[in-house]
Amino acid sequence: MNAPTMKGLPIQAPSYVKNAKLIAWVAEMAALCKPDAIHWCDGSKEEYDRLCQQLVDAGTFKKLNPAKRPGSFLAMSDPSDVARVEDRTFICSAQKENAGPTNNWMAPAEMRATLQPLFDGCMKGRTMYVVPFSMGPLGSPIAHIGIELSDSPYVAVNMRIMTRMGKAVYEVLGTDGEFVPCVHTVGAPLEAGQKDVTWPCNKTKYIVHYPETREIWSYGSGYGGNALLGKKCFALRIASNMGRDEGWLAEHMLILGVTSPEGKKHHVAAAFPSACGKTNFAMLIPPAGFDGWKVTTIGDDIAWIKPQADGTLRAINPEAGYFGVAPGTNDLTNPNCMASLHRDVIFTNVALTGDGDVWWEGMGDAPAHCIDWQGKDWTPQIAKETGAKAAHPNARFTVAATNNPALDEAWDDPKGVKIDAFIFGGRRSTTVPLVTEARNWVEGVYMAATMGSETTAAAAGQQGVVRRDPFAMLPFMGYNMSDYFQHWLDLGKKLQASGAQLPKIYTTNWFRKGADGKFVWPGYGENMRVLKWMIDRVEGKATEGVEHITGVSPRYEDLNWTGLDFSAEQFATVTSIDKAAWQAELKLHTELFQQLAHHLPKELPETKAAIEQRLAA
Ligand code: OXD
Ligand code: MN
Repeated sequence: MNAPTMKGLPIQAPSYVKNAKLIAWVAEMAALCKPDAIHWCDGSKEEYDRLCQQLVDAGTFKKLNPAKRPGSFLAMSDPSDVARVEDRTFICSAQKENAGPTNNWMAPAEMRATLQPLFDGCMKGRTMYVVPFSMGPLGSPIAHIGIELSDSPYVAVNMRIMTRMGKAVYEVLGTDGEFVPCVHTVGAPLEAGQKDVTWPCNKTKYIVHYPETREIWSYGSGYGGNALLGKKCFALRIASNMGRDEGWLAEHMLILGVTSPEGKKHHVAAAFPSACGKTNFAMLIPPAGFDGWKVTTIGDDIAWIKPQADGTLRAINPEAGYFGVAPGTNDLTNPNCMASLHRDVIFTNVALTGDGDVWWEGMGDAPAHCIDWQGKDWTPQIAKETGAKAAHPNARFTVAATNNPALDEAWDDPKGVKIDAFIFGGRRSTTVPLVTEARNWVEGVYMAATMGSETTAAAAGQQGVVRRDPFAMLPFMGYNMSDYFQHWLDLGKKLQASGAQLPKIYTTNWFRKGADGKFVWPGYGENMRVLKWMIDRVEGKATEGVEHITGVSPRYEDLNWTGLDFSAEQFATVTSIDKAAWQAELKLHTELFQQLAHHLPKELPETKAAIEQRLAA
């Protein structure tokens, strides 16, 4: 890349920006991308309002009816730019083995040479927004700072909701603080006089991470995790590298607090693959029979977890907002989420109703007519005839955490919260029981490492196919997956050595189907029944349950069924261990271990052998 230069566009950093490295980098990137202007975001409400109005004027945003959704907007993306592009996502570590077999890799020099001509002049005719953000509470010892340069005002306003974005970041950064440089362009320069489109993007896409130099370069997409670089790119792919080097964890996990009627509080971090109901679980409302129980949200997608001197693990949510999947969200599946969406929301790719409000499949009764996510007329009749969806299946809302009525009082606590249990949950129609407690840390790591899940619309590509998704991190792992397993095992040993009680590890599967092809477990708020069993186990209060090939599960009588009509037969359908299915499953674990053979910790095949023995017994 070019040496830092102040040639070309004057940088004009505000006087409160005192970090020389940052100013030099912005100058270098401006010289490369050649924007018409540079805007240093201050994160103020005035700036947000101005940029939103600019997006309305450009046709990217539609302002929703203020009587229905005050302060809210709808964006409709280009139909080709609707999800994360995993096949265009690269981990460009110096050595290919360090990216591992689950990542796309290119040598850093080759990738830099590929990106150089693409970024050269990529922001012509546009403004470069300098977006300063903190992942985690400002100044928290667990938090880290990033600066995203983007030519998308949509990105700038979304980043203000999704992160702690603005001027105060520069105070933490000081004159020589560290930041992760993130460069993003939609890849659609404007020649003089050229009219812009409402959702600029490029057919060519590159989402690139350089783990050694902790850099992110994103080209060609304006959507979600491809463009809001604090989220998957920084908080998972780059942060997983930071965590490995520094002895902590960056995980694809929600964090919730559970408070019992006696006022005793526990914290759980739970990993589920994309679009498997993480936001619903994080905002769960306990059902009938759980009077006095309360679930509160610390985070809905990502957890940064650092071991403490006393052997405990403390976690923060690095984000400040939710970028959640809208379809399927309603007053029954997630009332807290629906309440969060009453005002000050950016919706993307949902449908627009005649009265200036939004609608999506699964929200409730369909409107007689609306404008679908592609700007076309939509009616229930058209849907019946053509199968057209009003909202794209990966349509999203962006909303501040502070809109959530179930927000935990410690969500912004720089110290984070102490984690008592981990949950790993796949989406499986068969085989995997409703809930299992690992007998020990290694068994828990095994179950997390071999997790499988049916794919969803959060990523481009085929849906509903079972793929191995270790720790729900497959698309987000920033280094070699087997080294990551080792990192988890090492952490367990270290915590154990300190004498602290290790968090318990659970696997769940809310998605088993019956012979009729329908989900058997009611899910949503009813998941509280399983959560309470876990908390009882953590507390040492629960009954023994039943021990089986992969751990311990509750018996029917071990769960509280007050208020739910769920028979012992139905329970058997979601908890049974089918020998033949597990034999087939273990073959798939073998295939996974063959794929991940380089640096695969020996504890994993050893644990598999123990499961095989139990299965054969
Ligand atoms: C997300 C995802 O957007 O996992 O959270 O895809
Ligand atoms: Mn996610």
